[in-house]
Amino acid sequence: MEKTFLMIKPDGVQRGLVGEVIRRLERKGIKLIGLRMLQMDRETATRLYKVHEGKGFFEDLINYVTSGPVVVMALEGERVVEIVRTLIGNTKSYEALPGTIRGDFGMTIGRNVVHASDSVENAAKELAIFFDEKDFLSYTRIDETWLYE
Ligand code: RTP
Ligand code: MG
Repeated sequence: MEKTFLMIKPDGVQRGLVGEVIRRLERKGIKLIGLRMLQMDRETATRLYKVHEGKGFFEDLINYVTSGPVVVMALEGERVVEIVRTLIGNTKSYEALPGTIRGDFGMTIGRNVVHASDSVENAAKELAIFFDEKDFLSYTRIDETWLYE
């Protein structure tokens, strides 16, 4: 089983999309194994977006993601990194397909509602910023026998 990290950004929280995002993940069959609400400080946000340090949009990105509360979650499932990236859609909300979170709820690149890890390796790094290993809950969803062969 793979794990990934998803964050509902401040615009998603402010626009009342927390339930909508979680609903989409749950109905797909993705298991929630950790969930927290918090407001990031600049240090935490910089750690999360380390790869973008030095880029033109970095300051705006840090200001944006620290501007209000976010919801962070740990998700589990087979191929969950790839599946969640597909569910969130293109970084540029205006190019994201309908049916994806960004395609249905976003207009721009700078306010794109959610973040999700783009590889198994980055998922492990990003999860470690917000969760201890012991925070991950281990349980069986009642529909798992019908989600997997
Ligand atoms: P994320 O990390 O937030 O899940 O988004 P992503 O992988 O789809 O896109 P990434 O390239 O990692 O960019 C991280 C976030 O930075 C903001 N951004 N702004 N103005 C710009 O050109 C620009 N480029 C990126 C977006 O909020 C993007 O989600
Ligand atoms: Mg990214």
